[in-house]
Amino acid sequence: MKNEINAASSTAPAKRALKLGVIGHPVGHSLSPALHKVFAEAKGVEITYEKFDVPPAKLPEFMKNAALALDGFSVTIPHKLSVMGYLSSADANSTAIGAVNTVLRRDKDFFGYNTDIDGFAQSLARAGERGSPAGKKVFMWGAGGAARAVAKAMGAQKAGLITVANRDPGKAEDFCGLTGDTPCLVMGIGDEKKLIESIVAADIIVNATSVGMAGGPDPEGLPPGASAIRAGQLVVDIVYKPLVTPLLKAAGEAGAGTLDGLWMLIYQGAVAFDIWLGNRPVPGGYPAQKARDALLMELGEKRDQPGV
Ligand code: ATR
Repeated sequence: MKNEINAASSTAPAKRALKLGVIGHPVGHSLSPALHKVFAEAKGVEITYEKFDVPPAKLPEFMKNAALALDGFSVTIPHKLSVMGYLSSADANSTAIGAVNTVLRRDKDFFGYNTDIDGFAQSLARAGERGSPAGKKVFMWGAGGAARAVAKAMGAQKAGLITVANRDPGKAEDFCGLTGDTPCLVMGIGDEKKLIESIVAADIIVNATSVGMAGGPDPEGLPPGASAIRAGQLVVDIVYKPLVTPLLKAAGEAGAGTLDGLWMLIYQGAVAFDIWLGNRPVPGGYPAQKARDALLMELGEKRDQPGV
């Protein structure tokens, strides 16, 4: 697999409906169809967007058959890593993260991308100056794919210091290779005093673990040390189900600003949509608020939260 991407310069499909979809297992509750419907309408592009529930053992069959009838697709758990084995090339972001969340097909070639880095960076901008990492101290929990995207985005935006805490610090060992010129520190969660000190000192705090996620391993939980959050900080959760996670609730009660994970979902989707448009880009941006309203309906959230 090569690392450079040259798909954008290859032949774009004729002007017909773009055939898109999402593969995952399970995939039933994916918000991607609703998200891309809003984007397609805004761009005046006709699309079909289908959910493909593909168990791991069926991935080879999917790539040999159904995938060849699609112009592109989103990739979710558990295929973000295994799909890389089918690509002609992967972009620098997906190789840095070690996971692909967006695939573009041209003829028999598949090209892989990871839009989480740009999606997270763009979501931070929703918080205005407070969300700008430049020169600031960032503290984050997590060491999975989503956490790698957060660390890379923070480094690219010239954060002053990034401290990564994970239950298993061994998994975050290579994180400091992701943060560019930004100094980076990795710690476990065992040394509570050190953990609290880092949280108190931070300007921006990010939960990039599944703690607090409905249906996840610890839906009611708070990441360790969260009680140290104080007013003046910005707390970001990449979890969006529920919209107000236990962490965001606690952060709001402590007087901190909050940013939920729905924005990251929306912006990573917009970056993916641009990739699928390839060399027939349509002018104009993506209606993030309209997409958010559609997703809130899907989630059954009766009203939005004020956030930052
Ligand atoms: P993703 O690709 O979405 O980031 P992942 O790779 O499964 O998902 O990573 C999940 C993250 O949530 C990891 O950082 C995990 O910590 P470990 O690496 O120590 O397993 C973290 N996580 C999950 N459940 C947790 C819990 N109950 N307490 C603390 N961290 C948890």
